[in-house]
Amino acid sequence: MSEYLPGLAGVPATKSNISDIDGEKGILSYRGYPIEQLAEQSSFEETALLLLDGHLPTAAQLAKFDEQLHENLRVKYNIREMMKNLPATGHPMEMLQTAVASLGMFYPGSECLTGADVCEDLNYIHNMTVKIMARVGTIVAMWEHIRNGYDPIEPRDDLSYAENFLYMLNGNEPDPILAKIMDVCLILHAEHTINASTFAVLVTGSTLASPYSVVASAIGTLSGPLHGGANQKVLEMLEDIGSPDRVEKYIDKKLANKEVIWGMGHREYKTKDPRATILEKLVDQFMEQKGSALNPMFEIARKVEKVCEDRLASKGVYANVDFYSGILYHEMGIPADQFTSIFAIARTAGWLAHWREQLADNRIFRPTQVYNGESVRNYIPIDKR
Ligand code: COA
Repeated sequence: MSEYLPGLAGVPATKSNISDIDGEKGILSYRGYPIEQLAEQSSFEETALLLLDGHLPTAAQLAKFDEQLHENLRVKYNIREMMKNLPATGHPMEMLQTAVASLGMFYPGSECLTGADVCEDLNYIHNMTVKIMARVGTIVAMWEHIRNGYDPIEPRDDLSYAENFLYMLNGNEPDPILAKIMDVCLILHAEHTINASTFAVLVTGSTLASPYSVVASAIGTLSGPLHGGANQKVLEMLEDIGSPDRVEKYIDKKLANKEVIWGMGHREYKTKDPRATILEKLVDQFMEQKGSALNPMFEIARKVEKVCEDRLASKGVYANVDFYSGILYHEMGIPADQFTSIFAIARTAGWLAHWREQLADNRIFRPTQVYNGESVRNYIPIDKR
């Protein structure tokens, strides 16, 4: 029997061409393109298409994809009514999982999922991708209004994906700097090899479940604090610390109690997550452009990172992507419990790229286990126990 490795650490679960991580050097690439170049030069829409199709699109291909996304931004009236009936106090990730799963009833489509091992109908895959990708952003923005007792704001046809999301969320023409930052955040979160939620995509996709079920199961997996839920936890932690002079004591107490420091550490990186480096620079630029002094939250974050580097670098634990994203979203006035939903919007692109890859060479996932339970024994009737 093969060796059991907890958390399947280091065990390849699939073969993939989508993204790659060099955890020692801190390099992340999508389809071979370094994340730094995509963050600087690409857009979320283009990056999504790159992830899905494997190559940078032509202007015509990108324009068509953009048009399809715009055609699919709106959600049916009944979904809005369903969302109104969800408890306003519920977590946005639970709402998102529910709403995305419900899309399968409102916009069904399983033409390719016939039981054959392979699905190569690219029209079907593209159609399902835009149906889901377009609507996740709308649903997240809608929820912000619905849970506060207002009607949602309709998307616009003249705005990019990031702009539209901010517009639907705030109801204002988005500030170009904030829209650019949101676009970069979406690019950075769009894909990250076989993490827990992407593994959920592979497992669910391998049963030929609908792409709505695939994405809904991934959203549930992302919601946990050890995965996407960490960005909300980081902000709560920074608020809890309250001021830079309290950092050292706070971190040392946490570590002495064997608690994790949110936004630190990564299974793949043994150095600083390159996405955290890009985000840290974005925070810097944003502060500079705003012309304001260092935001106190950012100052606390910098100190936390420094103290953690001192205490945890020997274990290969450094800041990850979630460490700085929350500070930026906070600056945009986005509530902390929506941070992971934004992560989900972005990651939907990567999830659907993996879904496509899985369908092209499918075999149902059915791992084995190391059984540690009782040997076969006789049932004892209840009056004899
Ligand atoms: N805070 C404090 N210690 C940490 C840590 C953190 N955030 N992350 C890892 N460590 C320590 C572990 O306690 C362990 O120490 P030990 O060897 O003395 O037992 C060592 O570093 C190795 O960590 P390990 O738990 O084996 O890493 P993992 O690959 O199983 O876990 C994470 C990776 C991401 C789950 C983990 O780093 C974590 O919980 N981070 C905080 C949550 C977070 O930010 N998640 C978002 C990831 S993008």
